[in-house]
Amino acid sequence: MFIGLDLGTSSLKAILIDDAQTVLAEHTVPLTVQRPHDGWSEQDPDSWFNAAEQALVALASRADCSSVKGVGLSGHMHGATLFDANDEPLRPCMLWNDTRSHVEAGEMDENPLFRATTGNIVFPGFTAPKVEWVRRNEPAVFDRIAKILLPKDALRLFLTGEHVSEMSDAAGTAWFDTAARDWSDPLLSACNLDRSQMPHLVEGSAPSGTLRPELAAILGAQNVIVAGGAGDNAAAAIGAGVIKDGTAFLSLGTSGVLFAANDAYRPDPASAVHSFCHAVSDTWHQMGVILAATDALEWLSRLTGQSAQALTQDLGSLKPPSQTLFLPYLGGERTPHNNAQVRGQFLHLDHATDAQAATRAVLEGVAFAFADCRDALASTGTRIQGALALGGGARSEYWLQVLATALDFPLHLPKGGEFGAAMGAARLGMMAATGADQSIATPPEIARSFEPDQALTQAFSDSHGRYRAAYQTLKNL
Ligand code: XUL
Repeated sequence: MFIGLDLGTSSLKAILIDDAQTVLAEHTVPLTVQRPHDGWSEQDPDSWFNAAEQALVALASRADCSSVKGVGLSGHMHGATLFDANDEPLRPCMLWNDTRSHVEAGEMDENPLFRATTGNIVFPGFTAPKVEWVRRNEPAVFDRIAKILLPKDALRLFLTGEHVSEMSDAAGTAWFDTAARDWSDPLLSACNLDRSQMPHLVEGSAPSGTLRPELAAILGAQNVIVAGGAGDNAAAAIGAGVIKDGTAFLSLGTSGVLFAANDAYRPDPASAVHSFCHAVSDTWHQMGVILAATDALEWLSRLTGQSAQALTQDLGSLKPPSQTLFLPYLGGERTPHNNAQVRGQFLHLDHATDAQAATRAVLEGVAFAFADCRDALASTGTRIQGALALGGGARSEYWLQVLATALDFPLHLPKGGEFGAAMGAARLGMMAATGADQSIATPPEIARSFEPDQALTQAFSDSHGRYRAAYQTLKNL
């Protein structure tokens, strides 16, 4: 048996699988995000540790966990969790969608060494500029930093007592040599840091430590191996069998991700595409990342007082794109703009614009943001022919029809069941504990494919053109 723990932005999810990868039990613990100022987004690391312990207790209450051999970890990427010499967190974790350090990020990005070594723009959401913000604004905290851990690696410290990270998540820090799969000493030193403040590195499918005996006792198990694991996107790819070159997924989570697996390292920072290591050795991936996917719908839901499900349930069959345009840049945007200061827009409202029309505009706006990611990936030579549709937003059939038509490639919805980041984490736990190879990361069965509606692809492409023009017109307003 194996456990996958996925530390998400809005909840921690735990699943228990048997040796045939059948899910025996699962449990989700909600988490909150604190936004004390515009652009800030923080979480208390203790809330992760409590949630993980609660989840282990819940799994053990639902199934006999005494033969658990491995645990895998997945987590939201890029967060800066700072620890003192006694392994105590020094401040709340600054999350992936915290953009307060855009000035620091811009300055770092001007040093050509960062793009050349990491293969990526230094985005404000990445770890390094956040720590530089701490150095400038909270020097007493900076002076006490003994270790900097990514969120799921902070959770690992709680679970195992070890300071370890792995390649897929470390590649999102801006301190990483993505081709060499190692920390970059020159980049660390450019940030007034050194390797001793970084965790030791393993591959995602390799062991990183063992579960502390007190926690293993909750499961009634012994010698439970904890795998390196992965950042949530690479973990979702392992869960969905997206490892071979040419395979892809589109994730409609809090953030939106268009993810393509690569058999080689193919950086192109100018495109604002992310180029990271995959969670198994000798593989890499590229992705376009938008900061608000289901988050944009959640925003409309709060505004209208109707649940996201209520807003999307009666949309019927695919309609031509609305005249109303929505730009989903509620907290800035990464791909393709790298603009932390731009904000969302609703354009072309008229007397008839009701909650349903606004919902369609929001779903279309997120689809156009994904079309920008498709174009950014294509500019690097990565042409996506079709993708699995993952994440909570994939429950809306209307959204999948809009996306397939706006992207002009089919989206494949997996059959109900578990194939996300928690499954990817559990599979990495299985690889680490048993020595199994990546062939256990099989693709899911497909329930339904959403083909582009050829009668509407031109209209969606035209609206995508208006959407892009709107950004160019409004970005400096
Ligand atoms: C990826 C990214 C997000 C987070 C949150 O670069 O920032 O997808 O991992 O899920």
